[in-house]
Order: sequence, then C-alpha cells, then structure tokens
Amino acid sequence: MTSILMVCLGNICRSPLAHGILESKLPKDLFYIDSAGTANYHVGDAPDYRSIAVAKANGIDISKQQARQFKVTDFDAFDHVYVMDQSNFDNVIKLARHTNDIAKVKLILEIDNSIKDKKVPDPYYGNISDFHDVFNLLNTTCKLLANQLQTN
Ligand code: 4NP
Repeated sequence: MTSILMVCLGNICRSPLAHGILESKLPKDLFYIDSAGTANYHVGDAPDYRSIAVAKANGIDISKQQARQFKVTDFDAFDHVYVMDQSNFDNVIKLARHTNDIAKVKLILEIDNSIKDKKVPDPYYGNISDFHDVFNLLNTTCKLLANQLQTN
C-alpha cells in the first residue's frame, strides 16, 4: 500500500480537492490518500461548500471529508506528502525530525514540468471560478501523479 497525504493551510479548499481527485484516479486496494492542513482553524469541518460543488460537478464526492491538522506522526504514516504552496512547505518542514521526513515533502506542482509557477493559488477569498481553476490545475497534476505512482 502506498500512502499519500495532500496538505494545504486550512484543509478545506485545496487539499480536499487534491485528495478526492487523486483518489478517483487510483485503485483503492493499492493506494491510501488523505489530506490535512498546517493550521487548526477548521479542524472537524467539511470541505468549503465551493470545493464540494466543483468536485461534484466533476463527478467526485468530497463532502464526507473532515478537516484535520498535520501532525508529526504523518511523516511516519505516509510515503509522500504533497503541499500546495511554499508556505505549506515551510510549515511542514518545520516539524521534520530528520532528513527522511524532509525527503517526503514536495510541492505538488513540481510534478508538472510545463508549469512555471509552483503555487496552487488559495481560492478561499476568491470566487467560484477560482475554485474551478484550482480543480483544473489539480486534475491535470493528479493525472501525471497517478501515472507516475503506477509506473514506479
Ligand atoms: P485552504 O484554504 O488552505 O486551501 O484550505 C484556506 C482555508 C481557510 C483559510 C485559509 C485558507 N482560513 O484562513 O481560514
């Protein structure tokens, strides 16, 4: 079983989408996908209603997810930790205990060589079209990631 953790700030907008999208592209018996936030603002909450709506419009149900905060034992529980932006990266790396922890953490957009700006923009203060943009960005990236995970 390969385990992958998607991480953003609040775990209600971007990482729940990344979690649901990647899960939809991989066999459940071989891959375990989860998500978390570096902050504790929304612990226990469902994803933002706009992330739920955009996922649903694309045939993915993320409504049952519950936000949780990233914890140091996630470095033990997961093979790969994908973060949405540099700030998430810095916050996760602050908790790393050794180089093995650090080696697990990557900006998710590093997978796509055609993308220059490695930041998945935070749509929280934006509108529904920002959420669609984030969905499309993550969908393209997760296609590449799913292929990579199944060929390595
Ligand atoms: P996320 O977006 O990190 O993509 O889940 C945010 C959600 C909530 C907040 C910030 C970003 N907040 O400040 O509450």
